[in-house]
Amino acid sequence: MNQPFKPAISATGSLRRRLIVQLLVIAALLSVVLYVSVSTFARQAAETTQDNILEASAAAISEAARAERDQVFLDIPYSALSMLGAVSEERVFYRVMVDGVTITGYADLPAPEVPPKLRRPSFETTVFRGDEVRVVATVRRITVADETVRLTVLVAQTRAGLAAISLRISIAAAAVGIGFFLVSGTLSWFAARNALRPLDLLAQSVARRGAHDLRPVRSDAPSELVPLLVALNSFMDRLRASLMRTEEFIAEAAHRVRTPLATVRAQAEIALRSVKQPHNRQTMREVIRAVDESSRSAGQLLDHAMVTFRSDNLARTEFDLEELARDTIRGIGPTADLKDIAIRFSAEAGLGKVKGDAILVQSALRNLLDNAVKYSPEESTIEVAIARKGRTARVSVRDQGRGFGDGDVERLKGRFDRGTNVADVVGSGLGLTIVDEVARAHGGSLDLASNERGNGACVFLTLPLA
Ligand SMILES: Nc1ncnc2c1ncn2[C@@H]1O[C@H](COP(=O)(O)OP(=O)(O)OP(=O)(O)O)[C@@H](O)[C@H]1O
Ligand SMILES: [Mg+2]
Repeated sequence: MNQPFKPAISATGSLRRRLIVQLLVIAALLSVVLYVSVSTFARQAAETTQDNILEASAAAISEAARAERDQVFLDIPYSALSMLGAVSEERVFYRVMVDGVTITGYADLPAPEVPPKLRRPSFETTVFRGDEVRVVATVRRITVADETVRLTVLVAQTRAGLAAISLRISIAAAAVGIGFFLVSGTLSWFAARNALRPLDLLAQSVARRGAHDLRPVRSDAPSELVPLLVALNSFMDRLRASLMRTEEFIAEAAHRVRTPLATVRAQAEIALRSVKQPHNRQTMREVIRAVDESSRSAGQLLDHAMVTFRSDNLARTEFDLEELARDTIRGIGPTADLKDIAIRFSAEAGLGKVKGDAILVQSALRNLLDNAVKYSPEESTIEVAIARKGRTARVSVRDQGRGFGDGDVERLKGRFDRGTNVADVVGSGLGLTIVDEVARAHGGSLDLASNERGNGACVFLTLPLA
């Protein structure tokens, strides 16, 4: 009955894993985009820089040209080529043409396919003497002896250094991309864990509950979990209502059965008096015993339903356990007297109060005393003691009866479970179930043992002190 609930659910994948994988895929895509854009941008920036310097160099050479008499003179300014040298260890070539005729420089340096226009130089990447070079061409008009000529300046520079710079930038971009991926991967893991934390908390708060705790879950939850919580709570509501109906039905049924049973018993007693035949008398006694048993069962079922109901909405008022025990002992007194059983009671001084439902605790004590009286021989003694044990009060009931006998003692706490040595005594097997449920509802316990002082049973009911 109190078996832990093993769900027959097999997990299909994990939300956390799915979330992490998706975030990682996004991080990987972003890393690649980052790598491609950084390296492309850096390469373009390096190329633009080279183009600008080439253009400035070509412009400087072009500006240095001057017309004198009927000729074009040109002294290549040192600065025009040194600014190129500043970029890196590149090789530099130039070629100056007047109307297509090379006047200085490398005559085989190829001009860009697109011819330059005035103030609009043209660029091209080509291969010159086995090396990749970037070539710029500028054009300018010069008037020589009343004639306008076209002065074309080509400046070229190898690109080995640029390639090296590009490679370095690409490696750096790749490192940044990988770093970005690792950081976002770690963050994704944390994010996934954080996002699913409310789910874990909810599962924990439901799992921590006691077997009979059907109160609605009141924990705060993110909006996505609210429908689940609402469904869960409404399910528990229905379950509780259904359990309540069942208990009410049992109580009602027991109640209805008890009254006619009492009538049957009274009639049977009367009949027994007038029956003379031993065989018939025996039959009548069996009828009476069966009625007693049914009546006892009905009573205990009624009590049990009451205990279940009150445990669900446990009252938490402080009461004096010693006084309650004295009351209960007084109540069982007449039954004990019938068997000449003496009940001795002792309580530790300054015990303090117990917090809970006094009616339930009294019902538990009544059942323990009822057992002690029922299973004890005539003229024996029952000892009831209350002692303090840490933050709890422990009621012990010791008798000199037959004891629990062989077999599993814990089993006797189960519903309708009775010992093997009590066939001669009327009982329904619900008494210890009631005591156990009362103890649990209060956060205490019920322990069954043998009386260490000789024969008999010793039962401990432990309840936390207020
Ligand atoms: N003081 C005791 N001495 C010996 N056996 C006991 C004692 N108390 C309980 N038992 C054993 O534990 C069993 C379960 O006890 P429980 O009180 O639940 O049921 P019951 O006494 O048989 O029936 P009822 O519900 O009418 O009390 C009993 O049938 C009996 O075998
Ligand atoms: Mg009993």
